Amino acid sequence: MNALWQPRPAAPQAQRRVMRLDDLGAVMAIEQVAYSHPWSRGNFIDSLAAGYLAEVLIAPGDELVGYFVAMVGVDELHLLNISIAPRHQGRGLGRALLAEVQAHGRALRLETLWLEVRASNERARALYRDLGLAEVGLRRGYYPGADRREDAVVMRKALRTTPALDGAPDVD
Ligand SMILES: CC(C)(COP(=O)(O)OP(=O)(O)OC[C@H]1O[C@@H](n2cnc3c(N)ncnc32)[C@H](O)[C@@H]1OP(=O)(O)O)[C@@H](O)C(=O)NCCC(=O)NCCS
Repeated sequence: MNALWQPRPAAPQAQRRVMRLDDLGAVMAIEQVAYSHPWSRGNFIDSLAAGYLAEVLIAPGDELVGYFVAMVGVDELHLLNISIAPRHQGRGLGRALLAEVQAHGRALRLETLWLEVRASNERARALYRDLGLAEVGLRRGYYPGADRREDAVVMRKALRTTPALDGAPDVD
């Protein structure tokens, strides 16, 4: 037996639903521990008012364990925030939520998923790469930092690989 092997705790059976204003207490509690520079409550209120795509994950016992916010553009989906409560991280919830974000994009027939991630956030970058997002650019000094600003890595994924053929009549 490998002594280093550690079983990964099973993810709770979380349900997704649309984010509401009365979720923001629980959302902010996660936001403030998940990030060095968290969004403000106002950022979430503005996102909901703007009609952005925003959903929460609710575990049994009505515990809010994660959320995402994404902006729908003409042809693209821009993921603005995705977070899992620290005590539930590393159990597959982030991966599952990101799959749902992509499913929304495809259902809306959007071409591309975009996001920015702090250059130092290796864990999120590895997850995004694993899900097929490519690192396509760098925005220098995009994020505030402890003593100096930090670069953002810009990542993208084509949601529809053959858009020209989508809905096209069959050709012999
Ligand atoms: C980034 C984040 C959303 C990922 O969600 P998660 O539920 O922790 O991720 P998952 O459990 O689905 O893991 C996905 C992958 O992340 C990596 N990962 C997860 N836990 C890890 C850990 N403790 N150490 C290193 N890598 C880890 C693994 O590559 C894992 O792949 P696997 O499923 O093959 O094991 C979550 O960690 C988070 O909220 N972080 C803080 C906020 C943040 O950085 N958001 C992203 C901003 S762009």
